[in-house]
Amino acid sequence: MSDQEKKVIFSGVQPSGKMTLGNYLGALKSWTKLQHEFECYFSMVNMHAITVPQDPEVLKRQTIELLAQFIACGIDPDLNTIFIQSHVREHAELNWVLCTMTYMGELNRMTQYKDKSKKSEANLNAGLFTYPVLMAADILLYQTDVVPVGDDQKQHLELARDLAIRFNNKYPGTFVVPEGYYPKETARVMSLQEPEKKMSKSDSNENAFILLAEDSDTTVKKIKKAVTDSVGVVNYSDDQPGLKNLINIYSAVTEKSVEEIVAMYAGKGYGAFKGEMAEAVVESLRPIREKYAYLLENRDYLEGIYTRGAEKAEIRAGKTLRDVYEKIGFIPRKF
Ligand code: TYM
Repeated sequence: MSDQEKKVIFSGVQPSGKMTLGNYLGALKSWTKLQHEFECYFSMVNMHAITVPQDPEVLKRQTIELLAQFIACGIDPDLNTIFIQSHVREHAELNWVLCTMTYMGELNRMTQYKDKSKKSEANLNAGLFTYPVLMAADILLYQTDVVPVGDDQKQHLELARDLAIRFNNKYPGTFVVPEGYYPKETARVMSLQEPEKKMSKSDSNENAFILLAEDSDTTVKKIKKAVTDSVGVVNYSDDQPGLKNLINIYSAVTEKSVEEIVAMYAGKGYGAFKGEMAEAVVESLRPIREKYAYLLENRDYLEGIYTRGAEKAEIRAGKTLRDVYEKIGFIPRKF
């Protein structure tokens, strides 16, 4: 199929820390599967990352590391457009237009804003509040059909859909209305320490998350320390949330069904389960970790990817923005 006939995907990850197993199983793993059928735009969203304080040098380093992780996870740079969000100015420009069409009440209802604003009372900036509008701009600029994300992004995606519909009602035929795509069992990978919370790179307890770029021994130790329960039987049940999360992860990395995994551990304890599960996680991450280390030594190659990516992204984004500007009554600049 030519690129013109393919449906379009957009998704992004913030370069605000190291990628976790949650990012991988919730988003990146879907991308690797979808990249063959769709025309994909994947972005390191550094403009979103600065809604919380960042050290400039660290932000630069993490942006490159994130790109290396995308590729190490199997995102093919020859098949997809991979770029740094701030390289395509249209994101900031469409963000502004959409801000003028978004209601304060809509943004006030965003649960992620409520959570984040509690954590950063000292830096309660307007960017944190309008964050979901920039995300809508990311998505709508590319006339995106499908957005593969974890389910913590559902509410943001709903806003992108509402804004597309609102804009189209006023100016018909402007935006494609995007659909979310969520993996079945790993749309929300939970913390290994508090399984009622999502696994997050910003957790103060390092045992709560698994990083793609940590060493295998650390991963095994964290899994062995993962909180379970006193039932002592390997069941897949909401009453055993810690175990349920581990089974979901096990299933995602081995592609075995949940039922198969439960049957494998009938009559066995958590020790045997955790040992083999940890081994499976480490084995599935081994090639990613090796490729990541190799890629980091090849900066020129990475620079080539994001440079070409921005050039390609800009073409599609520019087309949408010109249409938007024309429709809302901005006179095109004469050169
Ligand atoms: P971010 O950087 O927090 O996370 C990147 C992706 O990882 C998913 N994810 C998870 N999935 C399952 N379980 C978890 N514990 C888990 N933690 C994170 C997220 O759902 C996400 O898919 N706002 C976005 C970035 C963004 C974006 C976009 C995404 C900006 N513009 C446009 C899609 C389209 C974010 O903060 O992701």
